[in-house]
Amino acid sequence: MDGSSAWGAEDEAIIATNTEATECKRCAVELGYWKDDYIGYFAKRVDRKAPEINRGYYARVRAMEMFIHQFLEGVVLQRCGTKCQIINLGCGFDTLYWRLKDSTQAISNFIELDLPAVTSRKCHIIKRNKQLLQKICKEDGEVMTRAGELHADGYHLLGVDLRCAGAVRRALAAAGAADELPTLLLAECVLVYLRPAAADALLAALAGSFARCVLLVYEQCNLADRFGAVMRSALGARGVPAPVAAHSPAEQAARLRALGFDAARAWDMDAVWRALPEEDRARVERLEMLDERELLLQLNQHYALSVATRGALFADLDLNA
Ligand SMILES: C[S@@+](CC[C@H](N)C(=O)[O-])C[C@H]1O[C@@H](n2cnc3c(N)ncnc32)[C@H](O)[C@@H]1O
Repeated sequence: MDGSSAWGAEDEAIIATNTEATECKRCAVELGYWKDDYIGYFAKRVDRKAPEINRGYYARVRAMEMFIHQFLEGVVLQRCGTKCQIINLGCGFDTLYWRLKDSTQAISNFIELDLPAVTSRKCHIIKRNKQLLQKICKEDGEVMTRAGELHADGYHLLGVDLRCAGAVRRALAAAGAADELPTLLLAECVLVYLRPAAADALLAALAGSFARCVLLVYEQCNLADRFGAVMRSALGARGVPAPVAAHSPAEQAARLRALGFDAARAWDMDAVWRALPEEDRARVERLEMLDERELLLQLNQHYALSVATRGALFADLDLNA
């Protein structure tokens, strides 16, 4: 596929998944599940979501953060002698850049990629809000925006179709991605919207490019069973192509190793939830009543977090670290 692939209803439905994710995150933040001073810029007023949805989003954000911090601590503690870079694939309206900017100096370059329709909206929101813009650009710094892209020293937001290997390569080069830097690759609920062959090609190319990297993938799993079939048809009803990748966590880890990562592990979100510190789970349990415990369990068993690494530096990343 080239960079000018036809735009269709399927793409519109995929883009809408970002709106939904952002609204769900905003709702959970408003209810006190976690703190995010920036999400409000990207989703205005939102309806209250069901407790099991809020809990699911909490586990997702908390699990990603847990591994992101392990990666950053690794970079700092192991004294790589260099800072690191983060590449956020299908970033949507993720606020991670701003949240990390408040807490770490270890990142030299943060690159965000999504479809142009999403990055141009994100770009517009950033430009309109001083609180977002000033974290990207110091007073004397420069921000360059054009056609839904934003470039500043240490932050790059680019519109690109992840299904086009050549376009991704060019976008990363334009954003100053450096092959030799310790690199964190994020794919939070993204790869499942690509056809498996395109997702595999993307991951193999990334594994081949970055010799010292960690990849975090959060997405649906176990979609071959009955509950998975319900999830697939719910996605289909909204016009999103039903994910073909119905891997179990173990299959997902094996897939990542086969694509060129040295090591990979994956857990369903029930395992992740149980591995969270007791006090975190107790705090969240108190936020709102949860009647649908069985539904939450089933949801958690159909989402997984995978961690794949290249290079020895990050080989010890773990759920219980
Ligand atoms: C469910 S949202 C997740 C957004 C963000 N990662 C998060 O977790 O909040 C999926 C994102 O993947 C993006 N996406 C899906 N297919 C894509 C593609 N082929 N190229 C670039 N981005 C894509 C969508 O536009 C959307 O922003």
